[in-house]
Amino acid sequence: MARLNGHAVNRIVILTGAGVSAESGLATFRDSGGLWENHDPMLIATPEAFARDPDLVYRFYNARRSQLDNVLPNAAHRAIARLQQAFSGDVFLVTQNVDDLHERGGSGQVCHMHGQLRSMLCKKCGAAQPAADDYDRSTRCPRCGVVGGLRPDIVWFGEIPFHMDTILARLRVCDLFIAIGTSGVVYPAAGFVREAVVSNALTIEVNRELSDVTGLFHLRRRGMATTEVVALVEELLAD
Ligand code: APR
Repeated sequence: MARLNGHAVNRIVILTGAGVSAESGLATFRDSGGLWENHDPMLIATPEAFARDPDLVYRFYNARRSQLDNVLPNAAHRAIARLQQAFSGDVFLVTQNVDDLHERGGSGQVCHMHGQLRSMLCKKCGAAQPAADDYDRSTRCPRCGVVGGLRPDIVWFGEIPFHMDTILARLRVCDLFIAIGTSGVVYPAAGFVREAVVSNALTIEVNRELSDVTGLFHLRRRGMATTEVVALVEELLAD
């Protein structure tokens, strides 16, 4: 059990967005120079876009996956992993990110609600499996052998995020909700703070700027994730 601002903390839910990986060198989506500044998400990150121009979509995700080999987890990823390992209570980490930096930063439990770059899905046999390098519609599914059924294991706009039942169940019993590096623009993740407030949890937003839902949080830690997350984890572990 820890105490934060006089609030007893035993069950923590952490939500991360692209801002937690920004200092590792991965572009966010909506900051200046972000991914959606150079790509129309409706032409890349929807089932219709994949049906219309699969090669463009394969190229976009193959490029983002190969970038993972050139970046490293940062102090914020490592601090979250340390909290998961050392905290006496429960810590549930849900991320909107599709990179593998939480895992490489030491997190054993990571709930990827928007899928993962390092995984590919076969529409023919349904198998999610490690993504082959630069796969496309001519790549044979390693599991069923069928050609032409592979797609990124990513939740696109208009699709249902993964693990929502589990996420909502954890939000309903948490006593601390921390959102890190997310703009609060995309639902359902942007609405998680409301669930936490209904659960009488203390809610904290860690962001270098205001988000679309900043006003819903009890507390704000304004600054870079590698500074603010490390400090917050130290506070939680100091008790
Ligand atoms: N430290 C803290 N916060 C940061 C940092 C940093 N170093 N760098 C950026 N941020 C914040 C920005 O201020 C912004 O609020 O991270 C947030 C990034 O917002 P987005 O780019 O919108 O990313 P995210 O919120 O994760 O997007 C949500 O949208 O396109 C979809 O599926 C995609 O998962 C993504 C979802």
